[in-house]
Amino acid sequence: MDYRKKFETILAQYQQQGEPVFVEFRQLVDSVKFTERATHSIHPYTAKLLANIPYFFFNNSYFINPKHKILDPFCGSGTVLLEAKLAGLNSYGSDANPLARLITRVKCNNFDIVKIQSYKEEIQKKLNDNEKEEEISYKNLKSLEFWFEKHIQLQLKSIYNAILHISDIKYREFFLLCFSNCVRKVSNADSRISVPVKINPTRYSETSQHRIKYEKKLEELKVVNVTEKYFDIVNQNIKRVKNKININTSKYVGKVISNDSRNLSNLKDESIDLILTSPPYAGAQKYIRASSLNLYWLGYNNLNDLDKENIGRENYKKDEYKILRKTGIKNADYLLQKIFDINPLRAYIAANYLLEMTDALQESARVLKKNSHLILIASNNMVCGFDFKTQEYLKDILLQLGFSIVCEMVDDIKSYGLMTKRNKTASIITCEHILILKKNG
Ligand SMILES: C[S@@+](CC[C@H](N)C(=O)[O-])C[C@H]1O[C@@H](n2cnc3c(N)ncnc32)[C@H](O)[C@@H]1O
Repeated sequence: MDYRKKFETILAQYQQQGEPVFVEFRQLVDSVKFTERATHSIHPYTAKLLANIPYFFFNNSYFINPKHKILDPFCGSGTVLLEAKLAGLNSYGSDANPLARLITRVKCNNFDIVKIQSYKEEIQKKLNDNEKEEEISYKNLKSLEFWFEKHIQLQLKSIYNAILHISDIKYREFFLLCFSNCVRKVSNADSRISVPVKINPTRYSETSQHRIKYEKKLEELKVVNVTEKYFDIVNQNIKRVKNKININTSKYVGKVISNDSRNLSNLKDESIDLILTSPPYAGAQKYIRASSLNLYWLGYNNLNDLDKENIGRENYKKDEYKILRKTGIKNADYLLQKIFDINPLRAYIAANYLLEMTDALQESARVLKKNSHLILIASNNMVCGFDFKTQEYLKDILLQLGFSIVCEMVDDIKSYGLMTKRNKTASIITCEHILILKKNG
């Protein structure tokens, strides 16, 4: 199906009313079940983009021709890259979180099912041969005991060691991703909260479903067979890979090319035909912390260093936020000064976010062809009780970088990944703005 006509109707409405057009992407693209599509659900990730959105734009002759190359500079778990590949397009991505890059690679790689099955048997054999308990050498996860029962740690370590024997990196990554998927499920972390917070059934009333569910989960963890759980996940993911093979677009690449959207040096100037991205927010999602249990088990030891690459991060030393930095965006600077008077750290987080986003968008502008589109999915959020209009400020940055606005849509995306209560200083995101801009010729 070509969504060109639907977009042209929205565009005409936008041009007539001069205001964002309300749309519902779930209804615009209602014929596809995305959770079951190809490898989309291979691993959970915080603040995943609604796959209906890239689907709408990639199956749309208004924006796309078959030779087009796509970029998502904040690719997260690779929703955009996978949809590009499934639409028969080559795509590139970057992300600061190693877990996100791993998910994207595995999601988009082409696998031979026979090989996966034979590596699976190899792991099973290794685990059977090696039943003796191994000593845990994961000194870095200081709070290991806090998050995992001792017997779970031992089982996880054995599985991890067995996976490391796979010499073909592409296949090893498939099994590592299944392992990462298992880690969080056998931990004491509350599955309803994106950053690890220990399950505490007494937080809920005695008759609440959550309390019953979590009490049951804690009991199960005492005796859980991690290996069995791991192979359940492997089998589910093999099915997903098979689904992807059936769509038959293996000749198109979905490739991770950088770990920082501010440096896309692998891409030449004006080499990309369309950018579609949902960037991070200022202090809204803690991507590295949310992935911390997975990252530890995957061997990433210094999470503080990883966090420093993250745009929108929250950890700054007191010395750093003594002085508020100017962003050059008039409306933002006015608001930031007001926030600074109440909470200097929050103002600094938001100002630095906009400055780093300016660098990232400048790099995106460099690689995008003239007269080509950049589609940005962003939203406002609250900072210290003030409405921080992220989407407006990012639009201002892009206008300064030589873009023009083509169309603006708003989707009241309920149950979207970002719809979680975050903390006292940031609040719930209620709708998403889909901004379509064009790089001037
Ligand atoms: C809203 S999420 C993207 C989600 C993605 N669309 C998906 O469907 O999974 C924003 C992403 O920006 C990433 N990010 C933060 N700072 C970055 C940087 N400097 N370079 C590249 N990615 C970065 C975060 O790690 C996070 O994965």
